[in-house]
Amino acid sequence: MSRSSAAGIGSVPFADGTLDPGRWTTFENVACLAAIPSSNDLARELIDLYFREEQILPPTLLAAEEQSRARGRNGREWKAPKGRGLYFTFVRRVDGHEPVTLLTVAVARWVREAIREASGLAARLKWPNDLYVERRKLGGVLAEARTQGNDSYLAVGIGINVRGSAADLGIPHATTIEQETGRSFPLAPLLQGVVDRLGRGLATPEWTREVEEWERAAVHRPGDRMRLTAGGGEIIGEYRGLDPSGFLKLETPSGELIVSSGELKEW
Ligand code: BTN
Repeated sequence: MSRSSAAGIGSVPFADGTLDPGRWTTFENVACLAAIPSSNDLARELIDLYFREEQILPPTLLAAEEQSRARGRNGREWKAPKGRGLYFTFVRRVDGHEPVTLLTVAVARWVREAIREASGLAARLKWPNDLYVERRKLGGVLAEARTQGNDSYLAVGIGINVRGSAADLGIPHATTIEQETGRSFPLAPLLQGVVDRLGRGLATPEWTREVEEWERAAVHRPGDRMRLTAGGGEIIGEYRGLDPSGFLKLETPSGELIVSSGELKEW
């Protein structure tokens, strides 16, 4: 297990290489671990500890080479075996001026961009923040908020399938960067590139541009039929893009509907 704090640290061993956490100035604390159950669970424990101590948790990045109980959205399991992918979570205090939903949507786009830069693979975004290659899932984002009084934190967990094949992972309908490109990418430089990109996005966000960029990278096109479950019900409509908060705009028989959260069942 290796731990580090970003400030003044040189290279840190991780998976098949080394990381340079000193480049991640957006994250004041960085922990690179060998194995944990779930970096989102660890993030939650850390946030609760800081709540109890009435201290401010600085922006923190928690990465682990494997996660035995990684969680996906909507209570699903996420397979995070050693040597196959990138699994990490960053924690950020919610600043009232930051559009939180748009941020979680933008994260997927920044991850997409870093993957494209490193491997040439142009994944597409499925609302709200999944990465797909055609109908095969490459990666996903699990954003969880935690609040005490007026203080809130956002823990954003990211999983990316990198090496081997989806069949090796035992996940039907998934894919990996290797499966799509026919090339095997080392994990450490990929993690460095993804976190570098996230750091830049968080440090100098361009929220007004973000919606347009997300729409350009989406699997969805205006007019696509969508069916989703939300709040115990079902919604059917035509995709019309995102609103300025990153919510989904749907044209339904009773007019335009803005959907803040839900699970896409058909798209
Ligand atoms: C999804 O369902 O698409 C989101 C998957 C998120 C998985 C990652 S792996 C690292 C972090 N820790 C977790 O327990 N989940 C996220």
